[in-house]
Amino acid sequence: MVERGARVGVLMGGLAAEFDISMQSGKAVSGALRERGWDVVDIVVDRDLARKLVDARVDVAWVALHGRFGEDGCVQGLLEVMGVPYTGSGVRASAVAMDKIATKRALAHEPGVRLARDWVLRAGGSLPDDVALPVVVKPGVGGSTIDIGIVRDQGALAEAIVEARKYDEILLVEEYVEGDEITVAVVDGSPLPVVRILPESGFFDFAAKYTKGLTRYECPAAISNKATRLASEAAVQAFVGLGCAGLARADFIVPANQEPVFLEINTIPGMTATSLSPMAAKPLGMSFEDLVERVLHGAHCMEPEYTP
Ligand SMILES: Nc1ncnc2c1ncn2[C@@H]1O[C@H](COP(=O)(O)OP(=O)(O)O)[C@@H](O)[C@H]1O
Ligand SMILES: [Mg+2]
Repeated sequence: MVERGARVGVLMGGLAAEFDISMQSGKAVSGALRERGWDVVDIVVDRDLARKLVDARVDVAWVALHGRFGEDGCVQGLLEVMGVPYTGSGVRASAVAMDKIATKRALAHEPGVRLARDWVLRAGGSLPDDVALPVVVKPGVGGSTIDIGIVRDQGALAEAIVEARKYDEILLVEEYVEGDEITVAVVDGSPLPVVRILPESGFFDFAAKYTKGLTRYECPAAISNKATRLASEAAVQAFVGLGCAGLARADFIVPANQEPVFLEINTIPGMTATSLSPMAAKPLGMSFEDLVERVLHGAHCMEPEYTP
């Protein structure tokens, strides 16, 4: 539990391409905390973060950063060294979850987490002959759906590889799974109701994610009981298996057999009032402010093993 008098620094902005979205999440979070009477300071993260945290006398950090540096364990590492408790996943879980290949390998033996078949393409490497089309090609690390498309022939595969390489040298080539797209938020190890994503274009790409009206959402998702149960179990297994904390959100595709295929887990999902995790909290009677406060109360950092 974070004590009432604590000064909460909401970390937003940052050094990643997701700067604008993080500012929106951060402003929404700090607004919610202020409304609940917390002593809040907005910290716009740049390379001077350590000094800003000291100058603002931050006791606990609510991390509303997305993408590189903020969601991948870097900022979490800084906070660990400074001894500032922070919300969400720690260094290791953050770093693994940011890497789609490391995530899938880490979860390969979780009985409830079904994974699409994949091939990894490293710098200078080539794909084996048994790659079965259609596939999707993703940068191993990062990506906010900037460059993922269905690849149906060899020509398109070569193009998709060139495109994805703009973001990362290491690529994940994954079997294309046809089905309904869903996402499951997990808070402190418990799943929230499933959200179904219905992009008008058929693909949940960057535009569909961030342009109003291009995607419809349904919560609780009108999918089969079997898919709901299996996705909820898989989301929790992924959360626990990677050692996540606070709030995280796992993405899945539900194919015809109703056995959801896990795509990835986001350790700092969007946190505006209209984002998917708050949407999922609502049917449980948990408001945006409730969710933000609940995550705050889970803030933590490691105990040092040696004190000079
Ligand atoms: N194997 C796949 N089969 C079908 N669609 C996929 C697959 N992988 C990704 N997608 C589509 O691309 C979107 C983004 O992929 P995802 O792995 O969640 O990465 P990110 O959200 O980081 O861009 C998904 O929401 C889904 O619409
Ligand atoms: Mg995703």
